Amino acid sequence: MTVPWWQSGVIYQIYPRSFQDTNGDGVGDLKGITRRLGYLAELGIDAIWISPIYPSPMADFGYDVSDYTGVDPRFGTLADFDDLLAQAHAHGLKVLLDFVPNHTSDQHPWFLESRSSRSNPKRDWYLWRDPVPGGGPPNNWISDFGGPAWEWDEASGQYYYHAFLKQQPDLNWRNPAVRAAMQDVLRFWLDRGVDGFRIDVLWHLIKAADFPDNPSNPAYRPELGEMHRVLQQHSTDQPEVHGIAAEMRALADGYGATGQGERALIGEIYLPIDRLMAYYGVEQAGVHLPFNFQLVEALWQARSLAALIAGYEAALPQGGWPNWVLGNHDRPRVATRRGQAQARVAAMLLLTLRGTPTLYYGDELGLGDVEIPPGHVQDPRELREPGKGLGRDPVRTPMPWNASEHAGFSTAAPWLPLNADWPDRNVAHMAAESGSMLTLHRRLLALRRAHPALALGDFAFLEAENDVLAYERSYGEERLVVALNLGAMTQRFEMPVWALDGRPLLSTLADLTPVQDGALLLRPDEGVILTLAD
Ligand code: GLC
Ligand code: CA
Repeated sequence: MTVPWWQSGVIYQIYPRSFQDTNGDGVGDLKGITRRLGYLAELGIDAIWISPIYPSPMADFGYDVSDYTGVDPRFGTLADFDDLLAQAHAHGLKVLLDFVPNHTSDQHPWFLESRSSRSNPKRDWYLWRDPVPGGGPPNNWISDFGGPAWEWDEASGQYYYHAFLKQQPDLNWRNPAVRAAMQDVLRFWLDRGVDGFRIDVLWHLIKAADFPDNPSNPAYRPELGEMHRVLQQHSTDQPEVHGIAAEMRALADGYGATGQGERALIGEIYLPIDRLMAYYGVEQAGVHLPFNFQLVEALWQARSLAALIAGYEAALPQGGWPNWVLGNHDRPRVATRRGQAQARVAAMLLLTLRGTPTLYYGDELGLGDVEIPPGHVQDPRELREPGKGLGRDPVRTPMPWNASEHAGFSTAAPWLPLNADWPDRNVAHMAAESGSMLTLHRRLLALRRAHPALALGDFAFLEAENDVLAYERSYGEERLVVALNLGAMTQRFEMPVWALDGRPLLSTLADLTPVQDGALLLRPDEGVILTLAD
C-alpha cells in the first residue's frame, strides 16, 4: 500500500529567523536548521516547511522577495541550502519552501524595471492604473496591513496595487510572461530537489479585471484591522486563480515520477470552507492541500468542534485529502489561545484527526506568545496598526534549545526576545521530562507512525456532548478511540459497546486510568487514546 508522504506525514513549520543561529548575529540561519535536523527526525515529523529564505529587504521579513532563486546572505548561501536539503533527505525528512508568487519586493529587478517608465516591457508585470478622473486612487481597495492598497508613483504618473505593504507590489498574474517566469522559479527549486512548496496567499493572485470597488463590510470592527472595512469580493478569490493553481500542479506532478516521491503544493488560503474546497481543483487538479485554518479560530467546545470537523469532512471533494493547522507565524499561539493544559488536548486533537497536520515550531514546547517590549517591535503589521493585537512578533520568537545563555539559540542577543520561561521551557530540559509537552508530542508522533489508523484511517464520531469530544479511527482490523476532555471538570465517557475492552495507550496526563464499568473517567483537561487490540 503506497500512500504519498504528504498524506501520511506530519509537516513542521520553521520560521528560519528564529530556529537556530550559527554565526552569532542573533538571527537564525540555514546552517542552524541543518544542525537541528536530528532533533526534528527524533521528534517524529516527516517534512519541514521553511518560511522564506530568499534575498529580501525584509520589509515583511522575507515575504518581500527581491530574488526568487537565491538565498539571503543573512540565512546563508545556496550551497548551505543544498547541504540542508541533502542532509534532510538523509534523515528521511522532506523539505518544502515558501513560494511567494502574489507580490515581489519593490526592490526586485522586475519592479525596478516596471517602475522605470510606462513603456518599459515589464510595465504590465505589475498592476498599474491611472488615477480616477479628478484624482485619487483607482478604487477603494485596502491593504491587508491597513491603509490604501494603491501607491502613487510620481515619476511615471500612475498608481500601483499592493495587497500588503507598499514595498510588496502585486504581480499581474494575467500576464503570461509573469506566469512563465514563475514557472521557471518553481523549476529552479524542484530541479535542486525540493519536495514542494507552501504557496503564500494563493487566493490573492488574481483580481477582478476591471478593478471595481469592494463592497463595504456591514460587520466592520476596527479593532480587527482596517482591512476589514471592505469585503475582499473583487480583490481576491477570482475564478481564474484555479487555472494558475492547475498550472503549478501540472509542473509539480511532472516531477513526481522521478523516484524521489511526489512534490506537494500547499496553498495558504483564508476563505470560508465552501470557497476553500475549490482550491483542490475545479476542472483540473489544484493544490494538494489547501490549508485548513479552522482550528485556529474555533470555539473550544465539543459540539461546535464536532460540527466544524463534520462540516469540513462533508465538504471535501472526491479524492480531496484533509489537513489541519493549529498555529503559524501569523496567528496567536495555541498555548496562549487555549492555555497550557488544553494545549496538550489540542495537540492530541491535531495529531489524531483525519488528515495531514501542520505543527508550528515551538508549539511542541507549549511556547506562548511573548510580550514584545515597546521599542522592540519588528513586525510592520503591528507598526502600522499598533495596539490592536495584530502584531506577529509575539509568535515568532526564538526557539529555546537549552538553559545556556540566549537559550542556545544564539551566542548574541536574539532579534526578538526569548520567552520569559525559557530556563525551563526549552528543548533540553523538556526532553528529559516524561510529563513534558515535548515528550507528549514525541509520543503522539510515534503513535501516529505506529498506527495506520491514526495516519490514514477512517474517522467516525462517538460523542460530542458536554466537554467530551470522542471519535474512532479505524484502518483494516485496527480500531482506536480518541476521547478528549475540553474542560476543567471530570467527565464520564461511556465507551461504545464494541469498545468495552479498550485499553488506554496514551494520556495527555502523567498516568493512564483504565476503563471501568464500561466508562472512562476523563480527568480535567485530559485526552486519551485507546486501542482495542491486546
Ligand atoms: C502571508 C504570510 C504573511 C505575510 C503575507 C504577505 O499571509 O503568511 O506572513 O505577511 O502573506 O506576504
Ligand atoms: Ca545567523
